[in-house]
Amino acid sequence: HLSNLRGLKSGTLRIACATTAKYFIPHLLGPFCKRYPGIDIQFTVANRQQVIERFEQGVDDFYVFSYVPQELDLEVIEFMSNDLVAIANAEHPFAKRKQVSLAEFSAQSFIIREEGSGTRYVTEQFFKANNIKPNVRMTIASNEAIIHSVLSGMGVAILSAHTLAFGDSYNVKVINVSSLPIQSKWSFSWAKSQQLSPIAKVFLDYVETEGKAMMKKAIRLQ
Ligand code: PGA
Repeated sequence: HLSNLRGLKSGTLRIACATTAKYFIPHLLGPFCKRYPGIDIQFTVANRQQVIERFEQGVDDFYVFSYVPQELDLEVIEFMSNDLVAIANAEHPFAKRKQVSLAEFSAQSFIIREEGSGTRYVTEQFFKANNIKPNVRMTIASNEAIIHSVLSGMGVAILSAHTLAFGDSYNVKVINVSSLPIQSKWSFSWAKSQQLSPIAKVFLDYVETEGKAMMKKAIRLQ
């Protein structure tokens, strides 16, 4: 790694990630920053659509998506699975059930992420593929606020399992709904046409050699 450091005195690494990745990307950045104290990080958390816009403007070195936009000219490396699970609060009758059908689940008041969210996009595609129209009662632009709304009994939701490892979310129950979880994968991507900066190359090497194991560890620790 000393050779990587040569010519790398200082600079900025720019990463934009979708909100659901904010729980584990910092665990990847921590050891990297320690190893390369001259590198500053600019880390932006936004929804999928806003991350796409940043890509189109060429703002960042790397973009983190769970559902990679097919229409963009991206290099992609997948690094971790992302399961979207059905959730309800502990008092909900479904919390005690071994299995709930998708039709029953979707008849409940459903809380969904905002337009532009990848979680929303994947969830809508899933319902469409299953020929089901969910009973959407509430739209919220925050995973945490959705969790609190579920806890307060306002409805059920589908969110990434990564959102459930923090604070109050320990009281949320994952419901075993048929055909769920929806499975997707996290990936790092960058523009095919873009020449990676020396710092971005060092980071990519780090993600490929050590990053996957580190993020898995971060998820386990939560
Ligand atoms: P989002 O993240 O729902 O916050 O947009 C997930 C994704 O990019 O798929």
